Amino acid sequence: MTLAISHVTKRFGETVALNDISLTIERGEFICFLGPSGCGKTTLLRIIAGLELAEEGTVKLEGNDLSQVPARHRNFGVVFQSYSLFPNMTAARNVGYGLECRRRPRQEIEARSAEMLRIVALSDHAHKLPSQLSGGQQQRIALARALATNPEVLLLDEPLSALDAKVRDSLRLEIRDLQRRLGITTIMVTHDQEEALTMADRIVVMDTGRIAQVGTAHELYEQPSSRFVAEFIGRMNVLPVEGGKLAGLPLGLPDSAQGATLIGVRPEDVRLHANPVVTDGAACTILPAQLRNIIYIGNLAHLVLALDGVEHEVTAEMPGHAYKTIAEAAHIGVEFPASTVKVLA
Ligand SMILES: Nc1ncnc2c1ncn2[C@@H]1O[C@H](COP(=O)(O)OP(=O)(O)OP(=O)(O)O)[C@@H](O)[C@H]1O
Ligand SMILES: [Mg+2]
Repeated sequence: MTLAISHVTKRFGETVALNDISLTIERGEFICFLGPSGCGKTTLLRIIAGLELAEEGTVKLEGNDLSQVPARHRNFGVVFQSYSLFPNMTAARNVGYGLECRRRPRQEIEARSAEMLRIVALSDHAHKLPSQLSGGQQQRIALARALATNPEVLLLDEPLSALDAKVRDSLRLEIRDLQRRLGITTIMVTHDQEEALTMADRIVVMDTGRIAQVGTAHELYEQPSSRFVAEFIGRMNVLPVEGGKLAGLPLGLPDSAQGATLIGVRPEDVRLHANPVVTDGAACTILPAQLRNIIYIGNLAHLVLALDGVEHEVTAEMPGHAYKTIAEAAHIGVEFPASTVKVLA
């Protein structure tokens, strides 16, 4: 099963919500659409679900164009941010609703509903109404309902965003585990980068209606193709350079970065030296800096430094137990190890 999205464009009046989106999703993949508010994530998911029509482009499942197939005939399971359970139906009946609509025999509906409730570990809550369930439980019921009809694709729009952090963390793992066990192709919308990094096989980073980059968590973090991706996935010190120098200071950049105008260095890659022995000459790549701020968060400390003679601040991350040596030093040197420098477009 391949889901192929080609050249999809969608406008709402003057707003271009999606601009020439192309993407292929393989069977069993867990894909996250990640991007800031308003970048088009929900619109793209709704077009795939058949709840919205694209102006241009196609969505094909296994080579078959879906544009004439109404949402209810697509056999996609959908879960939205708000649980959207039917308030007057028990958990069990909510789960079986899709099968009820398909006029399946009562016995089959009851058996399937019970099975799905077992899968999301809520068998004991079958008789309850949604108002008698916690937020996390309601979202698990919504998930069970979406899965009950054996959908070919599972579509999730920020299914965890209404939940508190602890419940969210455990449900992330639960959904991921369930998705793997069932092998169901899944697309989840989120604007939470940590959620995308922990759950997705591949992440589609979106920016104002376009795809900025597609890749695994590792690829996006290690090889961001642009400043937008670099700053959206994790933290990044972004510095302008010219001829391999930062405001005239040599940085010891790798050869690959000689023509760059913008470089990025992750805070954890910035190397700090307490009272560095600075030798003269062009080869010196330890830059003097002043400490501006310390953000101590227990296991880690973020040190904000101003490079001497340069307007730019640089954030360095280090283990929480190690920052004092730097904070108490009379002089601080900053180094950007060549192998960690990323060239940004
Ligand atoms: N029904 C609509 N009518 C008019 N404009 C719309 C409609 N739906 C979405 N838009 C616009 O299209 C753009 C993309 O919206 P979309 O809901 O897809 O964003 P999103 O990435 O899901 O954002 P969020 O993270 O806030 O949910 C936005 O500028 C939004 O205002
Ligand atoms: Mg949205």
